[in-house]
Amino acid sequence: MSLTVDADVAVLAEADRRRTFAIISHPDAGKTTLTEKFLLYAGAVVQAGAVKARAGRRRATSDWMGMEQERGISITSSVLQFTYRGHVVNLLDTPGHRDFSEDTYRVLAAADAAIMVLDVAKGIEPQTLKLFEVCRSRSLPVLTFLNKYDRPGRDPLELLDEIEAQIGLRPTPVTWPVGIPGDFRGVIDRRGGDFVRYTRTARGATVAAEERIDSGRAALEEGDAWTQATETIALFDGVGATLDAASFLAGESSPLFVGSALTNFGVRHLLDAIVDLAPPAPARPDVAGSLRPLEAPCSGFVFKIQANMDPAHRDHVAFFRVCSGRFTRGMVLTHGPSGRPFSTKYAASMFGADRDTIEVAYPGDVVGLVNASGLQIGDTLYEAAPVTFPAIATFAPELFATARLKDPSRYKRFVRGLTQLEREGVVQVLRDPGGDPVLPLLAAVGAMQFEVFTHRLANEFGAEAELVLSPYKAARCTDAASAEHLRRIDGVRVLARVDGTLLALFENVYRLQRLKGEHPDWKLDPIVTAGAKA
Ligand code: G4P
Repeated sequence: MSLTVDADVAVLAEADRRRTFAIISHPDAGKTTLTEKFLLYAGAVVQAGAVKARAGRRRATSDWMGMEQERGISITSSVLQFTYRGHVVNLLDTPGHRDFSEDTYRVLAAADAAIMVLDVAKGIEPQTLKLFEVCRSRSLPVLTFLNKYDRPGRDPLELLDEIEAQIGLRPTPVTWPVGIPGDFRGVIDRRGGDFVRYTRTARGATVAAEERIDSGRAALEEGDAWTQATETIALFDGVGATLDAASFLAGESSPLFVGSALTNFGVRHLLDAIVDLAPPAPARPDVAGSLRPLEAPCSGFVFKIQANMDPAHRDHVAFFRVCSGRFTRGMVLTHGPSGRPFSTKYAASMFGADRDTIEVAYPGDVVGLVNASGLQIGDTLYEAAPVTFPAIATFAPELFATARLKDPSRYKRFVRGLTQLEREGVVQVLRDPGGDPVLPLLAAVGAMQFEVFTHRLANEFGAEAELVLSPYKAARCTDAASAEHLRRIDGVRVLARVDGTLLALFENVYRLQRLKGEHPDWKLDPIVTAGAKA
């Protein structure tokens, strides 16, 4: 089936007004606060704080799992959609905990841009450095927000150096502060040279009025602080640290904004930047690298699977990012890997724990396919003209553990839970091809994945297990021929992932390096991607 010319134009126009992005930050840098303020400024909530739980429990609409609520952190991800200045903004929530989890990487695969939120007192924190590197390696356009400027913090120039040195992303300040962190007067908007005075509303519950002042008056009123800020800006002009759309879209430079999410300052600048600078939903490449045109029949891929989102219904939701065409609820798509038809009767938009039936979606949007138990992470779904989108990158696991069941009579439940949580990608499961199929080694990128695993195993499947960490320090992809040799070496184990990839695990990194030197013909490749579904 081919779409009519009018329909093509409509799809292109809808894709053009979509902005799909993720906020990435270290816990406590202000991601939740900023998310709330976005909703406030977009008119999606009337008062910020309304989406937070009461009784001091810190959680936004997108936190829903019991464990998240207990700890006030966000482990799973969902999608907030709102309109702003005639644009449809899809905010993909990333887990906001100290550990990296594979979930975050998957969410970034579905985003077209990211906002990096840094606490001005802290800068880039080591635990989240990896996340920023992923954006950089994927050439994802990144906007930077220096948050908490209302409080004492570090010299912002130092933070700029840090961003460039550690992530290799060139910051290009769009707004620049007048005053120091803690004595914040406002920002200079470099696009027109105006001064935007810092005003605060009570905890920023309502939209702040913006006072714009011309540079002449600002110089008189702000004195030395103004002079210092303008001198710094002259320095930026001199070294070309100026907003540059092309290098931003290529993921090389990052437009930088300064503000205070708590008091609403700078929130509108950032939201405007999403609309004005961040890219619209682009045509996405297939596995062979050819772009699937936006106006082609509907297609997309599953980037996340979550079961039991609604404990009352024990259901299973696949998050589907639309890449081309017009999605309408009830349409029958083809499931790429199996070639089978897939009915989208139960499609929903996901707004935290709430869900509404979704009728229509366009490129950039995310649809929650409810009760989609046949879908796996990375699967392509398409209408008419077949397409296969690339597998979602997974990262080399760094932690390994075996599960010890506390009550052996719960064995069946354990196996059911293991199978489900493996499918959802909560942890990677490595099996010994010749060994016990149900006592596998669990592998993860971050420790939180293990915690989520045992928590869900106990709460959703009634199987309490204890995890015992294994001593492996490194994992490499290998092949059957090399595996023959590797299996004979002490301290090395070869296991298979569900997609058939063989992984060699090493207790000792030096041993790995020595083996690589001694046997250059053995396959010992770093693990970058998995689950290829070509
Ligand atoms: P996260 O999602 O990135 O983990 O951070 P979150 O927004 O929850 O913010 C962490 C803490 O930092 C919160 O304080 C929040 O109020 C505060 N905060 C966020 N943005 C700003 C800002 O611009 N300026 C200042 N001064 N503080 C900011 P909390 O005490 O942990 O929680 P709460 O009691 O305020 O909710």
